[in-house]
Amino acid sequence: MSQVRDIHHVQKSRVTMEGAGVRLKRAFGVVHNKLDPFLLLDAFGSDNPDDYLAGFPWHPHRGIETITYMLHGSVKHEDSLGNAGVIESGDVQWMTAGSGIVHQEMPERSKGLMIGFQLWANLPSSHKMMDPRYRDVKKKDIPIVNINKNVEVKIICGEVDGIKGPVQDIITDPEYLDVTMKPNSTFKHLIAREKNAFAYVYDGEGMFSPQTPKIFSKDDLIVFETGDAVEILTSESSLSFLLISGKPIEEPVAWGGSIVMNTDEEIRTAFAEYRNGTFLKFEK
Ligand code: CO
Repeated sequence: MSQVRDIHHVQKSRVTMEGAGVRLKRAFGVVHNKLDPFLLLDAFGSDNPDDYLAGFPWHPHRGIETITYMLHGSVKHEDSLGNAGVIESGDVQWMTAGSGIVHQEMPERSKGLMIGFQLWANLPSSHKMMDPRYRDVKKKDIPIVNINKNVEVKIICGEVDGIKGPVQDIITDPEYLDVTMKPNSTFKHLIAREKNAFAYVYDGEGMFSPQTPKIFSKDDLIVFETGDAVEILTSESSLSFLLISGKPIEEPVAWGGSIVMNTDEEIRTAFAEYRNGTFLKFEK
């Protein structure tokens, strides 16, 4: 019999300033055994360009993956490998920094609301210095599964009803789903026991475990306990949330801004290399 996961804890996102002055909501940015391998989740959501136009000018990353998902609005990116492009509404950029990348991420002025997310996934020590890579996924390549006409799941990474998302072969075997439920519906989804899982609500409200019959709403981060499945329920309201899971790495974490390694020595080395121009190990 599969055990439905209870809730470990819930927290509201906090308004944070990042980059060159971007006002965002940080769902979490912490080392936690129930969130491992994930390190950070930021939500961008504003209809005021002053909140986001300053963007994230040139900065280095090493030792992690950054996953950017835009619901509305667009972000222009450029990097040290010579890549440049625009992440448009509905697109995902899955960036594996590995040994190092220097990039900038600049939101473009949009007419309506700018809504997006950036998730940081850690890499195990065995892969921290892997060659950097990008997967740019267009909206049209993200499959949508409809369950009983009540639940719509966009599969960025992972599998629902035998349908696989476009992002595959990621080290920590993550699953990244964008789920929208109508009122009075249930969504049950298997998540392998060894994985950690969390949900982040970006619209509406619902219950995230039958064991904890409490309503959670926009900006709540729900961190799940161990189990084999999650069961999410709505009543009067609809609900939209990200459902993300991955295999914990269980290694020491040394975190220096946009660089995450295993030891403080590795962080010092990375910043020394960035200063003296030897940071980038990989040329296209
Ligand atoms: Co970045």
